[in-house]
Amino acid sequence: MHQELNNLKRKAHAHAEAYKHVVADDPYRLHYHLMPPVGLLNDPNGFIYFKGKYHIFYQWNPFETAHGAKFWGHYISEDLVHWDSAPAALAPDQWYDKNGCYSGSAVVSDGELYLFYTGNVKDEAGNRESYQCVATSQDGIHFEKKGPVIHVPAGYTAHFRDPKVFRHENNWYMVIGAQTEAEEGLVVLYFSEDLLNWNFLGPITGSRQDQLGDFGYMWECPDLFPLGDKDVLIVSPQGLAPQGIKYQNVFQTGYFSGEVDYQNVRYQHGAFTELDRGFDFYAPQTTLASDGRRLLFGWMGNSEEGDARQPTHEHEWIHALTLPRELEWKDGRLYQKPVRELKHLRKDNIERKDVTFESANPVSFEGINGKVFELEVSILDWNARSFSIKIGKAVKIRYDKIEGILSLEREGFTPDKEMETRKCYLQNLHHLQVYKDTSSIEVFVNHGEEVFSARIFDEPDAESIVFQSDGQLTASLNKWNLDRITEF
Ligand code: FRU
Repeated sequence: MHQELNNLKRKAHAHAEAYKHVVADDPYRLHYHLMPPVGLLNDPNGFIYFKGKYHIFYQWNPFETAHGAKFWGHYISEDLVHWDSAPAALAPDQWYDKNGCYSGSAVVSDGELYLFYTGNVKDEAGNRESYQCVATSQDGIHFEKKGPVIHVPAGYTAHFRDPKVFRHENNWYMVIGAQTEAEEGLVVLYFSEDLLNWNFLGPITGSRQDQLGDFGYMWECPDLFPLGDKDVLIVSPQGLAPQGIKYQNVFQTGYFSGEVDYQNVRYQHGAFTELDRGFDFYAPQTTLASDGRRLLFGWMGNSEEGDARQPTHEHEWIHALTLPRELEWKDGRLYQKPVRELKHLRKDNIERKDVTFESANPVSFEGINGKVFELEVSILDWNARSFSIKIGKAVKIRYDKIEGILSLEREGFTPDKEMETRKCYLQNLHHLQVYKDTSSIEVFVNHGEEVFSARIFDEPDAESIVFQSDGQLTASLNKWNLDRITEF
């Protein structure tokens, strides 16, 4: 299959082949998350259900564990759990994308798969140009580039990227993340009848638009879709200052909910809410499942900060995607659950019903431990001030009922491994679903009311789980080991 690939793609796959063993030898290689075969992965791209299969593409720099001229890597699945790797879909080999086939999306029209992406171009002086480009495919494996269909409009800088295309009332629309010449981050809307000719409609929301005030210098990776009775806009603004316990990462990802007025090109919406409260989450993308569910993949990483300290560098790879999630609009907010298909990974169930934790006694249970597992904690009765779960040496989940704060603490990646914390407000804690992989953790709180995602680099053999409460608390515990999904 690789013989048919062009030179640059062939070079990328040869590089992956050459480093296969170095990568595979890493004890931090994940067991049930998508990773690059070699090099750096960032945003999920082109998430789509096409001809009976799910396709997820990703920003990929095969040649270094650093950002650079991105390819679109590619995985395919029938069940959202087990994935096959496919040849790179796009390589940066044309004048209009030579410094990177940047992020974008996919749609299906007349049985053909269309990829929309940003061609990133830089000259010797570092000046940037951006082109929104199209590539198409009949089989979902081989792609033909059709070149740029949108140039940066007047009034905007070349930070104009990440096209997300969708259908609304029999028309095609596209949202793009943008920066004005005054360096305000915005989302702009385009319209098309045929996916090739696009009309600029204007900004729908952004920094200093309507009620928002100053809200960042660039907005990346917008995604606009209906959920329940709302129009939800997910976006990753850059340039928000920390505010109390909010906006603690370098860049943020969150959502607005409201109503889009397509006639007048406006989006009336409420406040910005962070989608994930952990350390490593950015630039997510959604698609519709075959059964109508709204699914999301995120990048389990964030900007370049701290990248250099992740130990997987030594094994020539860095970063992963989150687990796929399903979204639901409920009680005025967005809920995110791990996709139900992930239950197929469960094995070796151990259950402890109605366990009562007494004050300040750290407790662990035979068989409720491990390196790669799912743990469900259903809290039946709270008479405690706080409750915590320590996983290995490097992670602790803690709820303080008096403060109404849930926190995730992890060992930092600096040489002194100082602990660092992310928090969110939570009125009540009644359920936790924890997915632990060799070097990651995802915590779903109260069936998706909040989520924390983080990479963690504990001692590779650490496998303890220790519960502790301040006061009395009764809970039921369920733990499963999880199967490995990939050879990569
Ligand atoms: C977000 C992002 C996108 C861009 C891509 C480049 O992480 O900066 O805006 O298209 O990554 O890899």
